[in-house]
Amino acid sequence: MQIQDFTPPLAHTADRHHLYERAVQSPRAEVDFIDQTYRKLRGRSARWLREDFCGTAAVGCEWVRRRPTNRAVGVDRDPEVLDWAQRNNLATLSADQRARIQLLEQDVATPASRPLDLVLALNFSYWLLTDRAALRAYFAQVRTALAPDGAFLLDAYGAMTPTASSSRSGRWRTRSLGASAMSGSRHCTTR
Ligand SMILES: C[S@@+](CC[C@H](N)C(=O)[O-])C[C@H]1O[C@@H](n2cnc3c(N)ncnc32)[C@H](O)[C@@H]1O
Repeated sequence: MQIQDFTPPLAHTADRHHLYERAVQSPRAEVDFIDQTYRKLRGRSARWLREDFCGTAAVGCEWVRRRPTNRAVGVDRDPEVLDWAQRNNLATLSADQRARIQLLEQDVATPASRPLDLVLALNFSYWLLTDRAALRAYFAQVRTALAPDGAFLLDAYGAMTPTASSSRSGRWRTRSLGASAMSGSRHCTTR
């Protein structure tokens, strides 16, 4: 029997992080939405943003590109993806932009060290917290991390329509992208 030359499938040569970004992320559009939503909710521009479950930190990088006053922290517990983020995304930033973003290798449940304007948990990442206690602890940690007029933005399934009561209270703002912004006022982040 003759052994044929083996040509590895194209997928073997692909970079999974690069493919992930191309498949499900659009950092410019995401930052447009984040920036506009915060301004609409709070009447000012956000400055300090934390990207939880940041993976390749694509959104955090776009955030520091957007304005010279913007600062970002990316949190992920996987050192491999953070290393990829450093080499492929942070490496494309200017020295000034790079000085305004920090990547932390830690669990999202770890308490934050400073008040944040925005916390993000995008692309349904918080669904990785599969039991009620872990999810509740995470939401409580976010609530503590937010500045008094901070906001927590996370994806909900599909394009949510606000219920009558939520519209009346103004606690939930939604948009057709399927992203929802949960008000960061201290009294309602965990509700
Ligand atoms: C879907 S990926 C990245 C999502 C990305 N932020 C986006 O918008 O597409 C989820 C990431 O969450 C990280 N992760 C999962 N559980 C975590 C936890 N408890 N604490 C920190 N990072 C976590 C994984 O390492 C992975 O990089």
